[in-house]
Amino acid sequence: MMFGAVQLGLLAACVVLFVPMGMAGWHLSRNKMLFFSGALFITLAVGVHLTPYFPSISDLATSVSNIVVFDSRDSCVSRLHDVVWDVKPLNANSSSLNYAKSWRWSSSRPVVACEFQKLAPSDASDLLNGSWVVVAGDSQARLIALELLNLVLEPGRMESVKADLFKRHSDYQIVVDEIGMKLDFIWAPYATNLTDLIISFKRKRNYPDVLVMGSGLWHMLHFTNASNYGISLRQLRSSVVSLLPISPELGEDVPVTGSVSVRSPHLFWIGIPTLINSMLNTEEKREKMTDTLRVAYDTALRRSKLLRQSNGPLLLLDVQSLSWNCGVRCTEDGMHYDGAVYEAAIHIMLNALLIESHQKL
Ligand SMILES: *[C@@H]1O[C@H](CO)[C@@H](O)[C@H](O)[C@H]1NC(C)=O
Ligand SMILES: *[C@@H]1O[C@H](CO)[C@@H](O)[C@H](O)[C@H]1NC(C)=O
Ligand SMILES: *[C@@H]1O[C@H](CO)[C@@H](O)[C@H](O)[C@H]1NC(C)=O
Ligand SMILES: *[C@@H]1O[C@H](CO)[C@@H](O)[C@H](O)[C@H]1NC(C)=O
Repeated sequence: MMFGAVQLGLLAACVVLFVPMGMAGWHLSRNKMLFFSGALFITLAVGVHLTPYFPSISDLATSVSNIVVFDSRDSCVSRLHDVVWDVKPLNANSSSLNYAKSWRWSSSRPVVACEFQKLAPSDASDLLNGSWVVVAGDSQARLIALELLNLVLEPGRMESVKADLFKRHSDYQIVVDEIGMKLDFIWAPYATNLTDLIISFKRKRNYPDVLVMGSGLWHMLHFTNASNYGISLRQLRSSVVSLLPISPELGEDVPVTGSVSVRSPHLFWIGIPTLINSMLNTEEKREKMTDTLRVAYDTALRRSKLLRQSNGPLLLLDVQSLSWNCGVRCTEDGMHYDGAVYEAAIHIMLNALLIESHQKL
């Protein structure tokens, strides 16, 4: 694409106009990078593509805001999971369990237009600089926490992180000094544990910037009761909606009495993965965690209105679709998947954060 001086001027105007406007609306400085990167990224992307088509700055401004709000935000969020896998044997021995797995976003036009990107470690670090991230849930959540750290930490540090993180059924905390990011993993196998966690945030009036939650597998195995699961999810939904400073419907900051104005965290839900019954590693799991039960748990999740798709507060990281598409060669026990699956979920989350950050403008 050729650029004339006029276009460059308009682009600069666009950046100058929108970036400070956004930053003025930003309350907590520790969130600055999270917001700033998002605004700059999307403003630049949209600016570059539209600049040649609009003659005046006011037209441009109107169009940019329309397109960002209606196009980027809604349709791009819904396309975040359009991921294509490439899974092939590492060597000629077909019996080998070793497969090279890689993924990329689909090259269909609407997905390409969203300009999703796998964030380099430095970009992810910029985005999360100064943030408090909480990942809470069962073993799936632990794998999500692991992949997030894998992205932002130097490779040499991962061994010791792994050892600590995988101590059975315990919480874990790490402060990544270089980027001032604090990550908590909270062992919370049931949705009721997640509700308790939300209540404790509220009590302390201290909320993470990014909250990633998920539970289901543990409940399937130990309760094996989808209606009970549904009840616990509805309780979780109402605790999230009523206890957080901002209800998703309002989408605005609401001052909490006796405290400084608090922002809403970015909220994500880790979906239950695809279960491959014959591969589950105990008799009990094969008996209880059936496809029928899996479907019933999905229905319970949908009916609970916890997720954005049903006007709820949490954005789904759809581990089911990611694991289904990666396939049977991406798991050894039929429920925990290769790191690549959770890595894809992390990049989906980070791209959603980029889009969402801009949404707050
Ligand atoms: C296939 O497996 C055999 C032993 O199991 C090994 O000796 C051979 O090197 C493997 N072939 C390749 C291409 O890796
Ligand atoms: C994080 O932000 C601080 C200032 O808020 C800055 O000094 C530091 O260089 C940033 N680190 C990274 C890795 O971006
Ligand atoms: C989670 O909730 C269950 C049932 O309510 C409770 O027994 C258990 O102690 C809780 N676990 C944690 C880690 O809070
Ligand atoms: C399943 O959970 C519901 C709600 O907690 C309860 O009423 C019902 O008795 C449970 N079913 C079984 C088979 O335990």
